[in-house]
Amino acid sequence: MKIGNIELSSPALFAPMAGYSDLGARYLARLYGAGLTVSEMVSAKGLIYENKETEKLLDKTEIETPFAAQLFAHEPEILHRAVGLLPEGIDIVDINMGCPAPKIVKNGEGSALLKDPVLAGELVAAAVSGSHRPVTVKMRLGFEMGDFVADKVAKEVERAGASMVTVHGRYREQMYSGVVDKRAIRAVRDSVNIPFIANGDVRSVREYDIMIKETEADGVMIGRGALGNYRIFADILGKSVHRTERENILLQIDYLKREYPERIVVNLMKHHVSAYASGKAGIAKEIRDRVHHATNYEELFAIVDEYFS
Ligand SMILES: Cc1cc2nc3c(=O)[nH]c(=O)nc-3n(C[C@H](O)[C@H](O)[C@H](O)COP(=O)(O)O)c2cc1C
Repeated sequence: MKIGNIELSSPALFAPMAGYSDLGARYLARLYGAGLTVSEMVSAKGLIYENKETEKLLDKTEIETPFAAQLFAHEPEILHRAVGLLPEGIDIVDINMGCPAPKIVKNGEGSALLKDPVLAGELVAAAVSGSHRPVTVKMRLGFEMGDFVADKVAKEVERAGASMVTVHGRYREQMYSGVVDKRAIRAVRDSVNIPFIANGDVRSVREYDIMIKETEADGVMIGRGALGNYRIFADILGKSVHRTERENILLQIDYLKREYPERIVVNLMKHHVSAYASGKAGIAKEIRDRVHHATNYEELFAIVDEYFS
C-alpha cells in the first residue's frame, strides 16, 4: 500500500494515542513491523507559537520511517502555516477528525469537524497546499450516535487532496464504549478511491483478518490492542520475533530515558507496565496497583524484576 509516493512495509499501522504512543511504544511497534507510526496529536496553534512541549511530541526514533505527524486544528490558515513548520523527518501529515475529548470538541476540532464536511475539506486543502508531504485524515463515523456522515466527510477530504483515510468505527457520542460498526466502516470504504484504513478493537491476528474481510480495507490501524502486545505486528506479517516481555519493557524504558527525566519516564511506564500486566491472569491488578504508586526507577525496576523475569 502507498500513501502518496510512500510505500508502507505492512498494512498494519500503529494508532496515535495521546499519553501512550510515546517514543518507546512507537519504537517497539516499528521494531515488530508496524507499517506506519503516528505522533500523538499535536496542536497546530502550538506549533505556530513554538510551544516546546508541542514540538517535543514530534520527536521520532531513528527507525520510524515513514512517520506521520498528527495535527489538530479548525482554522485552515493556521493549519496551512503549521504544516510549513514541521521538522524534517516527518513524512506524512495526518489531520485529527476523530478526537472525542470535550476540550478539543468545544474548539470545533477533532470529531467536531464531522459536523462540517466542507470545513473538513478546506482543512485538507490548506494542509496540502502548505506542505510537500502527503496529507491523510483520521476520523470517526459521525458525531451523534447513528448520524453517519463519515462517507460524506471522506469524499470531501478525498476531493481536497487527501492521500489516505482512516476510520475508527465509532461515533463521537460513544467515546470508547459499545462495539465497532464494521458495516459502517465498509460504507465509508466504498465512498472513496484512496487507500483506506479500518480501525477499532483489533487485538489479535484473527480480529485483524475479520476486519480486513468485512470492511475490505487496505489496512488496519491498531491502538490499544498493541499496547504491551507489540508482537501483534509481527504476527500479522507471519514473522517471528523472539524477545521476552521483560526485554521489551527494558527497551521501552531505555528509549524514554534518552529523552525524558526520571519522573516522566516512570509516569509514562505506568501505562505500559499496566498494559503488559493485562496478560498475567491473577496478578494483573496487583502489578497495576504497585506500578501506579511507583515514583522512581528503583521502584519501577523492582516491579519489572519481580513480575517480568
Ligand atoms: C488513551 C487514548 C489516546 C488516544 N489519542 C489519540 C490521538 O492522539 N489521536 C487520534 O487520532 N486518536 C487517538 N486515540 C484513538 C485511537 O487512535 C484509536 O482510534 C482508538 O483507540 C480505537 O482503536 P483501538 O481499539 O485499536 O485502540 C486515542 C485512544 C486512546 C485510548
